[in-house]
Amino acid sequence: MSEDVQGQAAEASESSESSEATIAVHWREEGVYPPPPKFIGQANASDPAILDRFAEENFPECFREYADLLHWDEYWHTTLDTSDPPFWKWFTGGKLNASYNCVDRHLARDRNKAALIWVPEPEDAGDTVVTYQELYRQVNEFAAVLQDLGVQAGDRVTLHMPMVPELPVTMLACARLGVVHSQVFAGFSGAACGGRIADSGSKILITMDAFYRSGDLLDHKVKADEAVEAARKEGQEVDRVLVWRRFPGQYSAKTPMVEGRDVFVDELLADHKGAVVEPVSMPAEAPLFLMYTSGTTGRPKGCQHSTGGYLSYVAGTSKFYQDIHPEDTYWCMADIGWITGHSYIVYGPLALGTTTVLYEGTPNYPDAGRPWRIAERLGVNIFHTSPTAIRMLRKVGPDEPAKYDYHFKHMTTVGEPIEPEVYRWYYNTVGKGEAVIVDTWWQTETGGFIGTGLPGLFAMKPGSCGPAALGIYLDIFDENGDPIPKGSGKAGNIVARNPWPGIFQTIWGQPERFVSTYFAKYNKDPDSKDWHDWPYFAGDGAVQAEDGYFRILGRVDDVINVAGHRLGTKELESSALAVQEVAEAAAVPVVDDVRGRVVEMYIALKPGYEASPEIVGKVKTAIETDIGKIARPKNIWIVPDMPKTRSGKIMRRVIASVSNFTDVGDITTLANPEIVDKIRDQVQSAKRAKGEEQRELSEAEAHEIKSYGEQE
Ligand code: WTA
Repeated sequence: MSEDVQGQAAEASESSESSEATIAVHWREEGVYPPPPKFIGQANASDPAILDRFAEENFPECFREYADLLHWDEYWHTTLDTSDPPFWKWFTGGKLNASYNCVDRHLARDRNKAALIWVPEPEDAGDTVVTYQELYRQVNEFAAVLQDLGVQAGDRVTLHMPMVPELPVTMLACARLGVVHSQVFAGFSGAACGGRIADSGSKILITMDAFYRSGDLLDHKVKADEAVEAARKEGQEVDRVLVWRRFPGQYSAKTPMVEGRDVFVDELLADHKGAVVEPVSMPAEAPLFLMYTSGTTGRPKGCQHSTGGYLSYVAGTSKFYQDIHPEDTYWCMADIGWITGHSYIVYGPLALGTTTVLYEGTPNYPDAGRPWRIAERLGVNIFHTSPTAIRMLRKVGPDEPAKYDYHFKHMTTVGEPIEPEVYRWYYNTVGKGEAVIVDTWWQTETGGFIGTGLPGLFAMKPGSCGPAALGIYLDIFDENGDPIPKGSGKAGNIVARNPWPGIFQTIWGQPERFVSTYFAKYNKDPDSKDWHDWPYFAGDGAVQAEDGYFRILGRVDDVINVAGHRLGTKELESSALAVQEVAEAAAVPVVDDVRGRVVEMYIALKPGYEASPEIVGKVKTAIETDIGKIARPKNIWIVPDMPKTRSGKIMRRVIASVSNFTDVGDITTLANPEIVDKIRDQVQSAKRAKGEEQRELSEAEAHEIKSYGEQE
């Protein structure tokens, strides 16, 4: 269909003033794709009346419709309690159990239906199918193990597990007891895990001995020892390390078990065969889990999600946006170690009683046809992934999808802005022109999608996430909190004007930071008990087109989104600063055609030290050890000095511009302007030699780079 249905480029006057939050964005209005009639015919939401039901005049009661998808032991008396803003409470008075909702209640009808289909990375290994009955058995038995160890409702337990069925089993067993799980992405280092153990006050760590990644069976247990050590340094003792075995009965790690502390889960389970543990009926506002995410300070934020509000929200959005029907086979290729996996691999799909696919490994292992073979073999009809994975699969196997006989009705993209060109490959080649694409904008903090269109009712527009989700009233504010009108071509900060059931409840142990980071910016009256006075500041820049669709431009804070994963620059920098020779460190984003952004690290050395490959190696190791391989900078540049203001602040936007081969802008406020040319010569010639010269940046990219680090 025509690319130009939507007409001409958005009008944006050259003279429009350009402040940090209010920038003029010039981009071509993309053509829209209407959803295929076949999709509309079967969609869970195809009647526009749903939009009226969730209109602002029906807030907050509209969210009963989501909560009614669950089984409640006791019905709530207050849908939204706003007595202590912005600590919203949803469905107060209500009681429920998340594990009961995701497992037990499906037994009557779907006992022998697959709940999980696990695809191990080695292709000859065969899938593991876990039926709802089997899931019930495993969750109960593991809950009995936890109970035996004295774990109780409200306790926190840290998980550091790979993509195996034992991970959802562990999460659901915790939920069964009202225990708050905190799963740390398996790719994070032991030290990063230890920091999260300490922050959450966990006495138990649950891990696995090993898992496959790109063809190797990695020793994962070694990280548990590092984690326990790191937690101890922060004053938190871990009493028990429970080790699942990738191959039960056989230990696949080289790291020895620690006597008295470490135990194999399969051995403990042997004592609890057939155990049944009553699900503990939890208040709706009881925390279900913590999910840590990076922020602008070094200390990660443990986002605390509730039981009733969160589960309602992910069930509702899975139904209407993922369009999950009982007979669908749904595959989200994310990792459960991120919020996407929690909400849209585990809790949402299982609450709806569908079949959810889990894949252990890398998407292009052993080749770029792997995802499509899995989809064909399992009859996957709903597929969910990130722009990074799509870019990568497009790069290494542009013609692979056509070789396989699978048919998606629905595809999701999440985690980063997706370029229209990549979107079109996703639509035409992966989706074969048959599937809707749902671009979902949300965050660890939001629990579920908050910016996206209902796939049966809204046309798709490449590069835009769409309108606000049901019952969410999104807006774009300028720095003063004044709304920027849609269609003005100006960008600002995207906000949600209202609370919703999936929003996190607080930052674990840091309630003031919760208020200051997300609400202080636009709250004008801290004493107000009216939710209208507490817009949620998401930390993303965005622009709203005339048709109401939002286009997300990226972070406005010191967070770099690498392949859909948020890395805090302060975390990266403090890790580099721990290296003895390093005096100063600055991390900047570099535009990358596969991973969206990658990190480059600039280092200045203490007097008396010479630049050397060893120091570069030390910085790299420090970052891998403190955070994990995913945070490894693409390049580490040791420079003679950093560009600094007279007050000594490193001008990150200047080095970011150098790394991205873009104009460094105004440097007259620098104390040492002469350093800029030196750094540019050094870095750009090294990059050219490596073939890393940057393509020309889009306007939005250039804006991000040129203003990087200025919003402090
Ligand atoms: C970015 C992931 C553009 C955004 C669910 C947000 C997106 C951050 C999109 C949250 C999207 C997420 N389009 N950008 N559809 N989805 N983002 O917490 O900058 O890992 O603030 O949650 O990713 O990342 P997080």
